[in-house]
Amino acid sequence: MLTKLRFIAAACTFGMLACSSSPSPGPTPPSPDAATPEAPLTTAPNDARGGRLYDKWSKETSTDLEPGKAGGARGDGTLLNATGDVVDPAGHSYRLKNLFGWDMRGAEGIYGPAYQNKSYVLSTNLLAQTQSEEELLAWLRAGDEELPALAEVLDDAALRDLAAFIAKTQRGELPGPDQFFTLSAEAPKNYVLVAGGDAAAGKPAYADSCASCHGEDGTSIPIDETLSLGAFMRTKAYEGWFKVINGHPGSPMGREIEFESGEEAAKITLGIIAALCDRGAYPPLAGQSDVVDGDLRCGAYLR
Ligand code: HEC
Repeated sequence: MLTKLRFIAAACTFGMLACSSSPSPGPTPPSPDAATPEAPLTTAPNDARGGRLYDKWSKETSTDLEPGKAGGARGDGTLLNATGDVVDPAGHSYRLKNLFGWDMRGAEGIYGPAYQNKSYVLSTNLLAQTQSEEELLAWLRAGDEELPALAEVLDDAALRDLAAFIAKTQRGELPGPDQFFTLSAEAPKNYVLVAGGDAAAGKPAYADSCASCHGEDGTSIPIDETLSLGAFMRTKAYEGWFKVINGHPGSPMGREIEFESGEEAAKITLGIIAALCDRGAYPPLAGQSDVVDGDLRCGAYLR
């Protein structure tokens, strides 16, 4: 696995793969732009990196903070909220995806009490309003009663990337969760893909944008050691959409699809997700089980 990652990283360095949007060569050393906190603020914010920072900022930056363990201003891996109280990192590691969920809706969304019921989810629904980049920047810097003040660990360039990602998603310039799934109390993992995806178009899109790394059938890079990409998308597309739009933190995978609008991004991404619901074309890893007929998550896309 490590060898494979190194190979991919090296291949990206030499421009053999479509990695232009993914500056990070792997978990270590940190990506060049993350390691440059004094990056001039005149540079346009990178909203794809903002999405990866939302996902797992510790992998996209050169911070010394290990949540709950070491580093940071107090040396114990803690962050403070806007009123100066320690925000306990237990269970969420200050990952925004844990605090607000993969659907960005906080307690109203998939991590809320009606669905996956995560103890650490915060009350703010990021998609309930539209905010300017400046408003979001100020909020992320300072935190609030629940949210830690992120300025302690993220420089302004990173916070601007994060603000751009959230603001563009609020405005629909980037797709949001509703374009991919609806919440369901009955379905495993509490989501069902929306109708209207074009799996026939998703297959060549997958071949163009994903197969160079994940393989033609999605089995080249094991995910969580046991899942092919197909098996991952058939069981965790509520997370998978986010990876396609933004990339995977601290890996060679950036935003690998190209689009001009949020609508177009949603169409391409839903097509790829729908295509990956085909168990024949994108099988599980050898010896691993797969979803059974009738599984609600892929719905009518399941093949
Ligand atoms: C440049 C190579 C590359 C390309 C192109 C690429 N990926 Fe990835 N992808 C990776 C690597 C490496 C990982 C991280 C694997 C790990 O560390 O678990 C990854 C992770 C993922 C994950 C996250 C799995 C998890 O651990 O949560 C998903 C989902 C994914 N890729 C889907 C896609 C899709 C869909 C495409 C095409 C739109 C794509 N990838 C294109 C290399 C790539």
